[in-house]
Amino acid sequence: MNKLILMLATTVIAVSAMMTTSGTIKTSADADAVSAATEKITYTLHDVRNLQDFILVKPAEEDLTGKPYDLNGDDRWDVYDLCLMRREVLKNPNTASDNDTLVIYFSRTGNTEKIAEHLIELTDADSYVIEAAVPYSDADIKYQDDNCRANKEQNDKSVRPEIANPIASIDSYDTIFLGYPIWWGQEPRIIDTFLESYDFSDKTVIPFCTSGSSGISTSEKNISELVTIGTQLEGRRFPAGASKDEVKEWYDTLNLN
Ligand SMILES: Cc1cc2nc3c(=O)[nH]c(=O)nc-3n(C[C@H](O)[C@H](O)[C@H](O)COP(=O)(O)O)c2cc1C
Repeated sequence: MNKLILMLATTVIAVSAMMTTSGTIKTSADADAVSAATEKITYTLHDVRNLQDFILVKPAEEDLTGKPYDLNGDDRWDVYDLCLMRREVLKNPNTASDNDTLVIYFSRTGNTEKIAEHLIELTDADSYVIEAAVPYSDADIKYQDDNCRANKEQNDKSVRPEIANPIASIDSYDTIFLGYPIWWGQEPRIIDTFLESYDFSDKTVIPFCTSGSSGISTSEKNISELVTIGTQLEGRRFPAGASKDEVKEWYDTLNLN
């Protein structure tokens, strides 16, 4: 009987030790150097993106060998690990990273995402993708159709599409790059949802966009009038296929360092 109790107690201690290791946030920006066995792990938005790309079999931007991404200890990296990681990061965004720059973007067809990825590489910033709770289908963005969802939303400045995965807080970031496609000359309404959800009064916000040809200025004005922003720097419109060099050229003009 005593033996049984001892075995049970040992199991409980072992399981709770495992849960503590995967569920606690440490205030280090970089999970690379973390030894999963001996230290508590901090997962950053950058880690979330790494694991997401790995699962989607996207070409890796960095060597992920040795990363502690097997959160549930089943010897593989999968969607279950991603869910656990996202939960940790969203629960503790203030301690998730000591990086003070965040690249946030909404991109329905991937053009703005490419620019954002260049920026993330250049700045080593954390990133956060705005996704709609009700995703935009191809029919939703068929702008030739007057009644498509995107057109109806753009025609009504009060519409606020719900965000699927709101980030819990942006408090730990000072500088925020905000990327979006131009829809009918303006920022998509979901960007307005995002802006109204957080306090930007002490942030530096830098908009960027992609478009067929329209400029960024109307959206910049909308953004500045919608919420209080500490400092809003001049944004930049890029064509869909802008290179990393073009993005770098613009980034350097911002003199953020
Ligand atoms: C509903 C809708 C409206 C658009 N309106 C404009 C516009 O007013 N001016 C423009 O140059 N491009 C416009 N475009 C093109 C997009 O801005 C462009 O394809 C952009 O790069 C898409 O970015 P994404 O791939 O990140 O979603 C529009 C596209 C859609 C779907």
